[in-house]
Amino acid sequence: MFSMVRKSALLLTAALGAAALFAADEADPKVERGKYLVNEVAKCQDCHTPRMMDTSDLIKSAWLKGAALDFTPVNAPPNWRSKSPDITSSSPIWSRWGEDGMVKFLETGKNPRGHAADPPMPAYNLSHDDAVAVVAYLKSLK
Ligand code: HEC
Repeated sequence: MFSMVRKSALLLTAALGAAALFAADEADPKVERGKYLVNEVAKCQDCHTPRMMDTSDLIKSAWLKGAALDFTPVNAPPNWRSKSPDITSSSPIWSRWGEDGMVKFLETGKNPRGHAADPPMPAYNLSHDDAVAVVAYLKSLK
């Protein structure tokens, strides 16, 4: 009996903890600002989210998980990339670059190797605060 009570108390604590975490995530103004910049201003999803084969709608469950691009310019430069990488928290980019590397990439347009990404990835010159907000949002995506 005692252990059952303790177990349900533990479960309740875990549930409350998860709810609190979720609420904190939702309310984090940095994440919200990053979400706005990514989804409404830069529209990273146009290239980084895969689409349904039949309707071309973006697949919400794979938001920013990397995609095959469905366009190529007539005169594509030789280094044109037809695929974009995963940029959510599960991307290997985070272990390779770290959060600072990603912030600098968004501020300067240059990755930690000192190069711009290949086209059509834009070279962004975001302010530090905007870059930090974008990173906070990307890290919040599973
Ligand atoms: C017009 C299409 C397009 C848009 C918009 C776009 N990307 Fe990309 N992105 C790409 C492609 C294609 C690549 C692969 C380039 C390469 O491999 O060098 C890429 C690569 C990247 C990389 C890895 C770069 C590297 O050097 O390995 C990161 C990080 C990234 N994008 C983040 C973003 C973020 C954040 C946004 C929005 C703020 C965004 N991208 C918007 C197409 C796009």
